[in-house]
Amino acid sequence: MKKLAFATLAGSLLLGTLNAQAADVDNAIEHRQGVFSAMKWYFGPMGAMIKGDMPYDQAEFTRRAEQLAKLAPMAEEGFVEGSAEGTEALPAIWEDMDTFSGGFDKLESTTAALVEASMSGDMAQIKPAFGDVAKTCKGCHDNFRED
Ligand code: HEC
Repeated sequence: MKKLAFATLAGSLLLGTLNAQAADVDNAIEHRQGVFSAMKWYFGPMGAMIKGDMPYDQAEFTRRAEQLAKLAPMAEEGFVEGSAEGTEALPAIWEDMDTFSGGFDKLESTTAALVEASMSGDMAQIKPAFGDVAKTCKGCHDNFRED
């Protein structure tokens, strides 16, 4: 009887651990997708300002670039083991974590450069810096995100 109670306890503890792991994976997915959504929120209007679809406002452009640069290192930790299923994250991420991680390094450096360029208020500097960030988003999506 004692033994059985112990087995039941051990079983429920194990189940508890498994549930906690599943919740961790769900939270990690929510975290990274939330960060990417926030990136899009800051990034989209910058593109519209560059294209002339929205009036260019230097302070607002710089503010958006700064927020994007802060978000750049945040999504990566959401790519925990076993979190591809049911998402657009390709299994290739976990097969080549170095390249994938390099994409986030590049995002950090290109967004920092965009902040610098945006402070100049000079489109001749801002446009190519924005292009470098856009290429970094696209480069990673082409390799590691399902389309
Ligand atoms: C190093 C790789 C990488 C970089 C860099 C990157 N992304 Fe992504 N992005 C992904 C992956 C992988 C997903 C799919 C995540 C998922 O489905 O859980 C994704 C998903 C998204 C999504 C969809 C989020 C959702 O709600 O499902 C948006 C929007 C997005 N990225 C925007 C951007 C923007 C904007 C940039 C550049 C400023 C960017 N990403 C840079 C890898 C990257």
